[in-house]
Amino acid sequence: MAKVTIDGIEIEVQDGTTILNAARQIGGDSVPPAMCYYSSLKDSGGKCRVCLVKVAQGSAKDPRPMPKLMASCRTPVMDGMVVQSITSPEVLEARKSVVEFLLINHPLDCPICDQAGECDLQNLAYKHGVGQTRYEEEKRTFEKIDIGDKIKLHMTRCILCYRCTFVANQITDNRVHGIIGRGDASEISTYIQKAVDNDFSGNMIDVCPVGALTDKTFRFKSRVWFTNPLDAHRDCKKCSGKVVLWTKGEEVLRVSARTDQYNEVKEFICNECRFDHKIKSDWIIEGPRHIDRHSVIAQNHYEKSDLQKLKKEIDRQIEFEKGKLLSPNNPG
Ligand code: SF4
Ligand code: FES
Repeated sequence: MAKVTIDGIEIEVQDGTTILNAARQIGGDSVPPAMCYYSSLKDSGGKCRVCLVKVAQGSAKDPRPMPKLMASCRTPVMDGMVVQSITSPEVLEARKSVVEFLLINHPLDCPICDQAGECDLQNLAYKHGVGQTRYEEEKRTFEKIDIGDKIKLHMTRCILCYRCTFVANQITDNRVHGIIGRGDASEISTYIQKAVDNDFSGNMIDVCPVGALTDKTFRFKSRVWFTNPLDAHRDCKKCSGKVVLWTKGEEVLRVSARTDQYNEVKEFICNECRFDHKIKSDWIIEGPRHIDRHSVIAQNHYEKSDLQKLKKEIDRQIEFEKGKLLSPNNPG
């Protein structure tokens, strides 16, 4: 075991735990943001640098500070280590610079992007970004690519976090994907298209922290904050069948895997559950989804009402739309 102090809070963790995961065990604002690390994807992390922290004391044996800011997702804790996350102005300044760097080529198309409202980069930009860009060059551009008939790749939005390539590598059968090119010519290889035949390829959509990989069956159907997310499950032979249904009235607009407070999927779902069951009656509804992270989609308070009440409201809305009621709020 190793004792580590993060922003003044001491915790004992297993040897080999990274600073990021030690901070997650403490929880709260000291948890560094993460755009490329993904706990269930082996070898992820170390690409985006938003998780930088200051190691003010390396260990009890060697108390010297580490000379540079460290990527917390890739740095294991040492016994006696002292780390600064939000208590270091240097760290906050560095995160701001990383966000500015990530936004250099990222288009500011949140108003028309399906990921808006649940985009890690959008949330990060609100927290650490600045209102104006200093970048005067041309942003790089790419054609949109169809990855099969269900997934759309907007390479312009990609931050090259590699998560989707890890999904294709670790969850699908063959390594037929990758990132080609170098520097600002890097792009997701179109070989990734070959991974779409796999039953689990849709998980690339859920792991993408931005709107680079989107669900074509949901594109432009609704802003995510206008939907009601419901926990639901079905008996599935390929995956756990545990999903979130993003509904509007009786309509199921999207099916996604369930994510935790760090927006990470714990149980990947198959394409059949994701794309082929867009009818409520195909599912056993468990109840409203609790969104356990800072996000505009966590702002709906409908989850406090019981399902019965929710159903009545939906029924009234349907009646109203059919012209049978004068107002959706009038039970008569
Ligand atoms: S497409 Fe999305 S998941 Fe894939 S590398 Fe780009 S940002 Fe990451
Ligand atoms: S989350 Fe650590 S470098 Fe990306």
